[in-house]
Amino acid sequence: MYRIRTLAAAGAFAISAAFAGAASAQTVLNFAHTTAQNSHYSMGVQAFAEKLSELSGGKYEIREQAAGAMGGERDLIEGLQIGSVELVISSTGPLGNFVPETLVLDLPFLFKSYDAAHAVLDGEIGQALLDKVSENNLVALAWSENGFRHVTNSDHPVKTPADLKDLKLRTMENQVHMEAFRAAGASPTPMAFPEVFAALQQKVIDGQENPIPVITSAKFWEVQKYLTLTGHVYSPAIILASPTLWDGLSDEEKGWFREATKAAVAATRAKVAADEANGVKLLREHGMDVTESVDQAAFQAAVRPAYDTFVSKYGDEMLKRIQAAQ
Ligand code: PAF
Repeated sequence: MYRIRTLAAAGAFAISAAFAGAASAQTVLNFAHTTAQNSHYSMGVQAFAEKLSELSGGKYEIREQAAGAMGGERDLIEGLQIGSVELVISSTGPLGNFVPETLVLDLPFLFKSYDAAHAVLDGEIGQALLDKVSENNLVALAWSENGFRHVTNSDHPVKTPADLKDLKLRTMENQVHMEAFRAAGASPTPMAFPEVFAALQQKVIDGQENPIPVITSAKFWEVQKYLTLTGHVYSPAIILASPTLWDGLSDEEKGWFREATKAAVAATRAKVAADEANGVKLLREHGMDVTESVDQAAFQAAVRPAYDTFVSKYGDEMLKRIQAAQ
């Protein structure tokens, strides 16, 4: 029978064969992420658990470790490499520190729409990038989704790039994002996501940027007054397994995990779409002041130097392929 557990407390478990003596031994696997339970990532983990349990006849139980219970995304990726966590869904935020080839995906205004992003990430280009990730002591199963990112802050409405000036804005630990916000005049402050709510509350930072599913599930209305729908970057997510887990699976089992991954991606994308449809209304109901129509061309021009820095370091081959594919 399908069962999923969420642990509130942190705790690193290796793969544990549990319930010995039962007709079919059950193996408990930790699937970790940093967003809230019932968020878009959580929906993916739940769909994964259900499909894997069904295909394996209950052999595998997924233990969801939500809300940063096992650390921030950088910690989780390191955990996969040393085998202290089995499965993770993460944004690409810290991934470029492990696999620089993925940094191209973090360039602002690269993807024109959700459909365009799905077409690229589900096709040859996405597969080539997954293969690169898998060369780094990680097993990259699929691209999933975080969503288009928007700016929130507690100080003033952001209507033009000039309004970003000197705003102490939390960014992901990602050099492309930091460079883009520095170029736009903000003061980027990289920080792991589990620390962000408290930092906003204590006004260590003025603002942050994240997709609607994150802003709603983290209840940022409690600590942020202003939201601007900048849509400045499409934020992919990736589903990763630890080589320790993967290398111990039979080919048949790997097939089950791949099917479960498909179910996870579909569920996460469906939740992102639902949150996109209802989230802004919800945020307004909770008192947020939302600036909906922004001059995207002005924001695009403001972050343009991030492209020059990126190309001078990493070249433009993959960038051009992605641009040509949309
Ligand atoms: O802002 C971030 O760090 C990411 O978008 C998040 C919320 C951890 C989801 O991947």
